[in-house]
Amino acid sequence: MLLVRVFSFLHTTSVRSTILITGGAGFIGVNAAERFLKKGWNVVVFDNFSRRGTEINRSYLEKNFSSGLEVVKGDILRDQNKLAELCERADVVLHLAAQVAVTTSVVQPREDFEINALGTFNVLEAVRQSKKRPSVIYASTNKVYGGLEDIGVDEGDQRYSFSGGLSGVSETQLLDFHSPYGCSKGAADQYVRDYARLYDMKTVVLRQSCIYGPHQMGIEDQGWVAWFMIASLFGKPVQIYGNGKQVRDLLYVDDLVDAYELCVEKMDALSGQVFNMGGGAGNTLSLLEFMDLLKNDLHMDIRYSFGKTRPGDQPIFISNNDKFTKKTGWKPRMDVRTGIGNLLQWLQDNQEQLSQFYR
Ligand SMILES: NC(=O)c1ccc[n+]([C@@H]2O[C@H](COP(=O)([O-])OP(=O)(O)OC[C@H]3O[C@@H](n4cnc5c(N)ncnc54)[C@H](O)[C@@H]3O)[C@@H](O)[C@H]2O)c1
Repeated sequence: MLLVRVFSFLHTTSVRSTILITGGAGFIGVNAAERFLKKGWNVVVFDNFSRRGTEINRSYLEKNFSSGLEVVKGDILRDQNKLAELCERADVVLHLAAQVAVTTSVVQPREDFEINALGTFNVLEAVRQSKKRPSVIYASTNKVYGGLEDIGVDEGDQRYSFSGGLSGVSETQLLDFHSPYGCSKGAADQYVRDYARLYDMKTVVLRQSCIYGPHQMGIEDQGWVAWFMIASLFGKPVQIYGNGKQVRDLLYVDDLVDAYELCVEKMDALSGQVFNMGGGAGNTLSLLEFMDLLKNDLHMDIRYSFGKTRPGDQPIFISNNDKFTKKTGWKPRMDVRTGIGNLLQWLQDNQEQLSQFYR
């Protein structure tokens, strides 16, 4: 009996795979870490903790998972040796660490370039030069398509719509990097793809639309869904850049993590490819519609004013997810109203902790 137990212990420990999540203490990172830990993976969170709220996410993971979790404080720019060491132990690298705000990228383009372009290059080189050569999943962005000026748009009372019956933007859309953030993420996106071609690495690029969900500590510059709700909870006014008719397809973070899991599972079939990844046509909202939803459905008070359009801001983005769906069967499962309700619940449950940032 003892022998059987020892064998089964050795078996379970030896088959545990390891995922290294750069930016793992951020919003998407903490959700991904939680999922992979629940599935029995070893998870190494690698983060420089520059984003506010990351310590809250770290405590959350440490409180809920006593085994399988390792948190390493490090920087994808400055700690290349650490990164190299961790790549030797990983089966998969989920690369999320980034400078994430378009507005910050305009004010500090060098820092944005270094973190997003050079930082990603460092991650790729660490993987390329490792013996283990883990596969790489890269969180790119729909901003690589720029302002979509070549797509006709109609203006309604509350929202823009595509003219000519287009239902979503596919991966065949021309790349048009706009804003330093678009350029740095876009450069990284192309490097990740090319490393699969050139160095026979296993890599997948997901061009993500707007992601939302629990653990999102949005700020004015990034994470608008959470930011508008937080602002409302803490009685702060918000600014809408542009006229508010911009349409976004919203993807709930659990659905995105489903896609990450599928990338791991089907890496051989997906490697070297890029995929658009958003809530799709069934999960869209304009900013004005979101304000109405907050007021009328969730009974939240929100004060807002209008400011200048941000560089490269798309009047409408809806992801055509068909390519990824055909390869994997994936579809977003969460409808946007339920997902927003879940996010509100999380924000209310954590309001006291969050007050240190938003008071
Ligand atoms: N949230 C979205 O809507 C969205 C949409 C498209 C793409 N993305 C991409 O997804 C990824 C994750 O985004 P998120 O929303 O979780 O953002 P986030 O800011 O919550 O997470 C990013 C994490 O990276 C860490 N980080 C920043 N610079 C670092 C560095 N030099 N070294 C190590 N860690 C560093 C931060 O501390 C933070 O924890 C990013 O690459 C982002 O560009 C996000």
